[in-house]
Amino acid sequence: MDKLLISGGKPLAGEIRISGAKNSALPILAGTLLVDGKAILSNLPHLHDITTMIELLGCLGVHVVVDENMLVEVDSRPVTGFTAPYDLVKTMRASILVLGPLVARFGEANVSFPGGCQIGSRPVDLHLRGLEMMGATIEIDGGYIRARAPKGLRGSHIFLDTVTVGGTENLMMAASLARGKTVIENAAREPEIVDLAKFINAMGGDVRGAGTDTLTINGVEKLSGGSYRIMPDRIETGTYLAAAAATRGRVKLKDTDPRLLEAVILKLEEAGAEVTQGDDWITLDTKGKRPRAVSLKTAPYPAFPTDMQSQLMTVIAVSEGVGRVIETIFENRLIQAHELNRMGAAISLEGNTAIVTGVEKLKGAPVMASDLRASASLVIAGLVAEGETLVDRIYHIDRGYECIEEKLQQLGADIRRVTS
Ligand code: EPZ
Repeated sequence: MDKLLISGGKPLAGEIRISGAKNSALPILAGTLLVDGKAILSNLPHLHDITTMIELLGCLGVHVVVDENMLVEVDSRPVTGFTAPYDLVKTMRASILVLGPLVARFGEANVSFPGGCQIGSRPVDLHLRGLEMMGATIEIDGGYIRARAPKGLRGSHIFLDTVTVGGTENLMMAASLARGKTVIENAAREPEIVDLAKFINAMGGDVRGAGTDTLTINGVEKLSGGSYRIMPDRIETGTYLAAAAATRGRVKLKDTDPRLLEAVILKLEEAGAEVTQGDDWITLDTKGKRPRAVSLKTAPYPAFPTDMQSQLMTVIAVSEGVGRVIETIFENRLIQAHELNRMGAAISLEGNTAIVTGVEKLKGAPVMASDLRASASLVIAGLVAEGETLVDRIYHIDRGYECIEEKLQQLGADIRRVTS
C-alpha cells in the first residue's frame, strides 16, 4: 500500500497551479446524464473519485472519451442501465448524484443506499423527499433506493430543512427536466452549486438564483449539449495556503479563484499571513513568522468550510496561543486531532469543539489518514514536523488532491511516495 514519506522542517516556497474542483466535477459529470447530446468538459482534475464517476457512467451505458489533457466528451444518448451498483457507491458516496438525473430523464433509477462514512452518518433523506415532492415514488429495497417517475417529474416548491450541498445538486438537476417550475428554498450557496447551475444553463437549461438561498428552475424539454470548463478547486487552494502558513513559507497559486475563499483567507490573515490576490492567482507570505492562533466555526458557505477545518487545525496546532475549532456540519470530523497529538500537538476534544494549544514544534511520526481532508492535515503536519513522518492510507488523499507530492516537491518540500 502506498504511503507518503515526508522529511519536515522546511518552509514551502514557490509557485504551483491549482486543478479543477473535484466537488464541482463530480456533480457535473452526473449532470451529463441529463444531456441528450454531447457534453464536453475541460479542467477535470485527475483523481480517483473522478475515475470512479466515469466508471459509473460507463456502467450505465454512457460513452465517455477522455483525451490526454483530461478533456472529456460525454454522450449519454446510449444509456441502457439505470443502476448505480453497491460496489461503486460504497467507494464513493457522490454516486448518489446520479439519482436525480436518471429519474428525471429516464423515469427510473436504482442507486445503492450510501451508508455513513468516517466523518459522519450523512443521511440522504432530503434528496429523497425532494424527489417525492416532484412526483417520484421511492422505495428502499435490498439496500437500494428505487425511484420511479414513468410520466416524468413535475415542478414543485421545496424547502430544505438543512442546507445540503448534494441534496441541492440532486434536486436542481432533477428539476431541470421536470414539467414546470421548481423553487428550492434554503438551498446551499456553495460555489460548486453555482458551477453546476452554469453547466446546466450552458447545456440549454434554465436555473436562476444559484449562489443565493432560493433557486428557481424552469424545467426544459431537453438539454442538448455544449462545452463547459470546471471551476478551480477552492479547497485545494486553501490547503496549499494553509501548508504555507503552517511552515512559515511563501507561495503563489495560479489558475485559481481567490473570491471563492474569503472566509479562509480572512482566518489566515488573522493568523498573521500577508495575502495578495488577483483574478486568477493568490499569494501568501508569512515573512518567516510563526502564525498566531485563531478560532473558527464551520458552517455552510459563505462561512468557513468544513472541508478546510482540519488543515487550519494543523496551522493552529503550531501557532502561538490557543484556538478553538467548532465543527457544525459533520459529527465526527475532528478525529485528525488524535493523530496530530501523536506528533506532539496539544489538542483536546469536547463534543464538537477542539481546543488547540499551539506548540513550538511537532515531531515526525507514523500516522494514519482517516478521510480526505484529515489526510491533508497530517501531510501539512508532516511538512512542519522535525524528522520523518510516514502517512499511511493515502488512498484517501488520491481521491481529492491531484499530484500532491509533485506539487509539494515543486514548493520545495521533501516528500515522496513509498510502497511497502
Ligand atoms: C458535500 O458533501 C461535499 N462533497 C463534502 O466534501 C463537503 O464536506 C460537504 O458537501 C459540506 O460542504 C461533495 O461535494 C462530493 P451535505 P454532501 O449534504 O453533499 C446533512 C470532501 O472532503 N444532510 O451538504 O454529502 C448532513 O448529514 C467532501 O471533499 C441531511 O441531514 O454534504 C450534513 O450534516 C467530504 N440530510 C449536512 O446536511 C440530507 O439529505 C451537510 O451535508 C443531506 C444532508
